[in-house]
Amino acid sequence: MSRKLRSQHWFGGMDKDAFIHRSWMKNNGLPDDAFDGRPVIGICNTFSELTPCNAHFRGLVEHIKAGVLEAGGLPLEFPVFSCGESNLRPTAMLFRNLASMDVEEAIRGNPMDGVVLMAGCDKTTPSLVMGAASCDLPSIVISGGPMLNGRLKGRTIGSGTDVWKFSEDVRAGVMSQKDFQAAESAMSRSPGHCMTMGTASTMASMVEALGLALPGNAAYPAVDAHRARLARLTGRRIVEMVAEDLRLSQILTRDAFANAIRINGAIGGSTNAVVHLLAIAGRIGTELTLDDWDNFGRDVPTILNLMPSGAYLMEDFCYAGGLPVVMKEIADLLHLDALTVTGQSVGANIEGVENYNDDVILPRDKALTASGGIAVLRGNLAPGGAIIKPSAATPALMQHRGRAVVFETIDHYKARIDDPALEIGETSIMVLKNCGPKGYPGMAEVGNMALPQKLLKQGVRDMVRISDARMSGTAFGTVVLHTAPEAAVGGTLALVKDGDWIELDVAGRRLHLDVDEAELARRRAAWTAPVPAMAGGYQGLYVERVMQADTGADLDFLVGSRGHAVPRESH
Ligand code: FES
Repeated sequence: MSRKLRSQHWFGGMDKDAFIHRSWMKNNGLPDDAFDGRPVIGICNTFSELTPCNAHFRGLVEHIKAGVLEAGGLPLEFPVFSCGESNLRPTAMLFRNLASMDVEEAIRGNPMDGVVLMAGCDKTTPSLVMGAASCDLPSIVISGGPMLNGRLKGRTIGSGTDVWKFSEDVRAGVMSQKDFQAAESAMSRSPGHCMTMGTASTMASMVEALGLALPGNAAYPAVDAHRARLARLTGRRIVEMVAEDLRLSQILTRDAFANAIRINGAIGGSTNAVVHLLAIAGRIGTELTLDDWDNFGRDVPTILNLMPSGAYLMEDFCYAGGLPVVMKEIADLLHLDALTVTGQSVGANIEGVENYNDDVILPRDKALTASGGIAVLRGNLAPGGAIIKPSAATPALMQHRGRAVVFETIDHYKARIDDPALEIGETSIMVLKNCGPKGYPGMAEVGNMALPQKLLKQGVRDMVRISDARMSGTAFGTVVLHTAPEAAVGGTLALVKDGDWIELDVAGRRLHLDVDEAELARRRAAWTAPVPAMAGGYQGLYVERVMQADTGADLDFLVGSRGHAVPRESH
């Protein structure tokens, strides 16, 4: 390699500092020639037993290391904060930015020339890519892979999606507690992340779509030997990327984001991808706006028949050929010359791929919806924008005028929703406040509020719901999310009262609170900001500095790339 590698600023030379850096590393059993100028590859591992979706990473990492060694590199694994969706409270999203800081500083402060990012559960993917983007070293992502399909009493069940359904069935009295408990064991049958097209599968698809992972990354199940092979090839490839000095900023172009947004529409991907891609673009310095989501994704058909929009699961997607097939099906909508971590273009990566099941990956003339993607709504209720996923919504509700039933907080919702005296009907619009980035804090996945029991018992299964929250990628319904500005900073959402008329018009991209300006001004004057749940600490910093959803909910001081210059010596 002609240029001096970054790691040689630690390990090269014969002075006291190099002695210190090498000597202590040798206690790992490394011989002299480990420091002879070969590329040092950091492997950023989000293993944690508290992040069950990533709990198999101790095995997976060994395949990456083998690949790095085979290609002549030195693999050095390091742990970072692991944002596990199923356990972290008040919400894993609160810690995405914290984890990204951990990743950024761990990369910049240590002797590495390239990085493998091991991601799986929802927030682990964006947190790693955001942190790495702020350093801009050669970096490649390997996802941990989805779980095998869930199976209950002979039928297929999907992570999350069926939890929401079963929970409502129990509340409606059509599913027994015994069956509900049986589903708990039947749903999570193997290592891996959620196997619906929830946020983890979406983000694994997004990194493949952006060109940050090898083709096939999204769909191979965690326990499939293909996943281990992919890890090994990923280890080999990052060593080559260091030699080529192929960095994130060369891959994360505006064309790459346009591709990813279109592919998100084609796969019926999670609404969470919106805030994550906006935040990643902000880190690397590529122009991307909320409206780009609508503009790029508006006419993309949803052709992947996976829950929550469709019927199948990630294992079926794998057997059908995986994401490269989806990309091939919509190739005319993609920038095929966009560069990827393979060193080849998107077009070259998808050459010759075949669809092995056109009931899973549908032909375009049989798409689930002709216009998939994410619709960005605006109006006096969301001057900064709000989003809805049309493929997960009820067509008849996409144009709707109804009276608001307002929940001031998630606790107010929980206390009130099953009150028999609650005045609510199937045409009502449920409005939830104070669940945005600052309000919750962390913008929790509570936007898909369960319907009132009395309406469930009448057979109602969807209603319009509006909030400043996010929703799980596994969820569904006519759910308006990410309303900006959020209620906790005095957005119009904070001013909605029970009985107000609200108009939703998805085709017209409109979200309107039908209350006159004078009345809104009176309500605004009387509004007081909620008191944050915790002062000080990381949560205090987060609430003070987090940006709104329409720009990615990053911390304002983390936006941008700060590079990977070698810091001054430590002793
Ligand atoms: Fe980890 Fe769904 S809880 S991916």
